[in-house]
Amino acid sequence: MNMLLLNKVPVWLSAFTLLLLTQDSVSTSEVTACGVTVDPPANIEIKDPGFLGYLSIHWTQPASLQNLTDCRVRYQLQYYDTYEERWRSVRTVKLTYAAQFDLEKPVKVRILTMLKCACTNGTEVQGEETEKVYTPEPTGMAGSRIRGFHCVYYGKEYMECTWESGPVQPPNSQHYLYYWHREMDETKECPEYIVLSEVRGGCRFPRESLLEFSKFNMCVNGSSPAESLRTAYFSIEVQNHVKPAVVSSVHVPEMDGLLKLDWSPPSGQVPEHCLEYEIESSTLMANGKELQQRKVLENVVLDTSYDLRKEAESKKTCFQIRSKVSMYCADEGFWSDWSQTNCTEEKETQYVETWNHLSLVGLVVISIAGVIILCLSLWILKKICIKKSSKKDALYTLYKQKVNETMPTILSPIFK
Ligand SMILES: *[C@@H]1O[C@H](CO)[C@@H](O)[C@H](O)[C@H]1NC(C)=O
Ligand SMILES: *[C@@H]1O[C@H](CO)[C@@H](O)[C@H](O)[C@H]1NC(C)=O
Ligand SMILES: *[C@@H]1O[C@H](CO)[C@@H](O)[C@H](O)[C@H]1NC(C)=O
Ligand SMILES: *[C@@H]1O[C@H](CO)[C@@H](O)[C@H](O)[C@H]1NC(C)=O
Repeated sequence: MNMLLLNKVPVWLSAFTLLLLTQDSVSTSEVTACGVTVDPPANIEIKDPGFLGYLSIHWTQPASLQNLTDCRVRYQLQYYDTYEERWRSVRTVKLTYAAQFDLEKPVKVRILTMLKCACTNGTEVQGEETEKVYTPEPTGMAGSRIRGFHCVYYGKEYMECTWESGPVQPPNSQHYLYYWHREMDETKECPEYIVLSEVRGGCRFPRESLLEFSKFNMCVNGSSPAESLRTAYFSIEVQNHVKPAVVSSVHVPEMDGLLKLDWSPPSGQVPEHCLEYEIESSTLMANGKELQQRKVLENVVLDTSYDLRKEAESKKTCFQIRSKVSMYCADEGFWSDWSQTNCTEEKETQYVETWNHLSLVGLVVISIAGVIILCLSLWILKKICIKKSSKKDALYTLYKQKVNETMPTILSPIFK
């Protein structure tokens, strides 16, 4: 009974808190409190400091609230997250806020004032909302924006971002990549371009130029003698683009009917506790069928080994392993390439069996070949015989005569 009550209390409490919050944020138009109208903030400005989409929003306190004392003024800012395609909401007492936007899409911001004074009886009064939309002017030739932008952070050692040229590509054009993260004072150009058939098709970032768990902004623009190219903007979190190196040294020793699979973690900078593995096994059964299985090992154990019971009817099992950054260390990641395959050793009895099987097959093949050769020889012989039959008959008669003359009569039945 007590247990039940204890369990119920927090649920009831949280439901109540939630209710208060939702009641709190109900708004009506033309809100007044303490004899003044609760106007939205004034002089709203969206500033671009040149950090490739990391914009700062500024505003001032509304004039109507200037003479109020003993009040707490807060602002609720909503902005449209173009990456997640949803509105995000923050509340702040400050007069500025910075957020990440996609400069290829309209920047939408909604803002309102919240007032809590002695004269509002302790409740927070929410004023009218105002919306600001800022649409960045696209520059450069239409259709020249790059396509297929894609970043892979190899073993957390270096990252490669690659792209393809846009559908419209003016002659003699050149691409540039610029990047920025919050520990940089200004954007920098790509440290090392990847050049494919004399055209820039990507950028390679050494580990030192990257910052994890933070927005990593990039833009790819370009120039040509005729016109500049349309700029493309990207914002990623680099820890979500990791592809571990290949797992090495896969061993499959067998002990007491157990296959004791073990391997070495991939080389590189991905911490071992961040890796999960997938094992693919392919078992050859006694009946000649092949059984394929896949199993993901989430990192419950910090271990690079796995015990499997041997299939009773199996002759041989082959394994390959790949790895990925687990959900405990990143939201996303890429699977590594598969490791080399390693197999269990076939037992001696199985060798004999295989040998027997092989020899049986061999025997059948040899027999068939023998029969074919025999038939062929007989056929050739017959041909020769027919051709030379007359000659042979004459010879034979002559020969028989000779034999009959020279051999004793006891041997004659052999030469009939
Ligand atoms: C605030 O007070 C000043 C001086 O007392 C006055 O001139 C001004 O009009 C007042 N502002 C508002 C919004 O009431
Ligand atoms: C605060 O309470 C007083 C007295 O109960 C009431 O007259 C007044 O309208 C209330 N004000 C607000 C803003 O709720
Ligand atoms: C490309 O973008 C960077 C960063 O915004 C800028 O400094 C550079 O001038 C641009 N180049 C071209 C060719 O548009
Ligand atoms: C396969 O496993 C055996 C022993 O289990 C080991 O000697 C061999 O090096 C392994 N091969 C590879 C390619 O890892």
